[in-house]
Amino acid sequence: MNQTLADKNILLIISGGIAAYKSLDLIRRLKERGAGVRCVLTQGGAQFVTPLSVAALSEEAVFQDLFSLKDESEMGHIRLSREADLLVVAPASADLMAKMAAGLANDLASTVLLATDKPVLLAPAMNTVMWDHPATRRNFRTLLDDGLHAVGPGQGDLACGEVGAGRMSEPLEIVAAVENIIGGQSAGPATGPSTGQSGAAPLKGRRAIVTSGPTYEAIDPVRYLANRSSGKQGHAIAAALAGLGAEVVLVAGPNNQPDPGGVSVRDIESATQMLAACEAALPADIAVCAAAVSDWRVAGEAEQKMKKDGSGQPPAFNLVENPDILATLSQMNGGRPSLVVGFAAETEKVVDHAQSKRTRKGCDWIVANDVGAGTGVMGGDENTVHLITADNVEAWPKMPKDAVATALAKRIADHFTNHFGSE
Ligand code: C5P
Repeated sequence: MNQTLADKNILLIISGGIAAYKSLDLIRRLKERGAGVRCVLTQGGAQFVTPLSVAALSEEAVFQDLFSLKDESEMGHIRLSREADLLVVAPASADLMAKMAAGLANDLASTVLLATDKPVLLAPAMNTVMWDHPATRRNFRTLLDDGLHAVGPGQGDLACGEVGAGRMSEPLEIVAAVENIIGGQSAGPATGPSTGQSGAAPLKGRRAIVTSGPTYEAIDPVRYLANRSSGKQGHAIAAALAGLGAEVVLVAGPNNQPDPGGVSVRDIESATQMLAACEAALPADIAVCAAAVSDWRVAGEAEQKMKKDGSGQPPAFNLVENPDILATLSQMNGGRPSLVVGFAAETEKVVDHAQSKRTRKGCDWIVANDVGAGTGVMGGDENTVHLITADNVEAWPKMPKDAVATALAKRIADHFTNHFGSE
């Protein structure tokens, strides 16, 4: 495990919410990367996880009470925040964010947060109606405007049984956001949230094109050839790049994902339309082709709905090859995006096939993933990928697609900082 957070001290504030159980895993993930983790548990947080488990995992005393003589004599609330490099609030409840936005300091967590001059990362978690409430939106916006960072919340099944926005980001996604902020302190401005809502911006001034989702290739006016791509990964990448300040055009095949905030979306259906929309979005510094483009389309789409003719003979389709958007963007003579990233969905010999795909198509990086039957990647929430560059193959651990997007966006930002300096 890379000690990406060696010698860093994180103060983790766990407020009340069912997502607090994920914070126990977050402690482990931060510590395995070398961070020291000290925890503040609010009264609400202690209803969901016990001080004992937090103390055992963090290997530190847990701080709970502003007016505890013992806590204050051993570690005053000012020292708690001063000795941290970064404060992480996970879960960040609606109540704690409201207190923070108002500048209240009536318990240990809110006092520490008011007393700090260190970066603060929020990982909101709540019921979707609470998250959508104008008061919560106002408070969250205020906190972002105040310069706090945020990761998530994501969409999905909520513990309350509802489905929607409000799910706390997964521990590895929060870790990626922590690494972004800590890395950003030395290498330029810190990053914004994965939702693309605000924050400082290492990719400010960079233009990115992201393709996402499947393509539909018409057979006749009512039928089409398609595939099972959900668009989750591509949309998350568009959001993550926008979160780092890039101006993003998302060229998306038919999908059910919400449009990411702060991203220009071009909805298309076919591969031919996808290529035209990408070309219209040029010039760009970055192209990430995450779409599952259909390799073929039906030659001579029927103008009317095809009918059975009574002969018992099914119609024969002639397929023609679609344009390869990744190869086209990679091999442009003038105006090629300076970093072109492709995806390779493979069912066997994942790295070998992806490496040869990288050279064949002429892109700079390939994100290779195993989509074999049983992996659940197609349409699922998680991905296990390899990042393949000209001289390196990195195996990334299994992560939620949002975390893959955050990590990839950070790598892209680092690439531009390393090659062109921070602008
Ligand atoms: O050749 P294959 O479909 O496996 O390559 C996958 C990569 O190529 C993905 O990045 C995908 O978005 C891109 N691609 C494309 N246009 C095509 C086919 C694939 O951009 N027609």
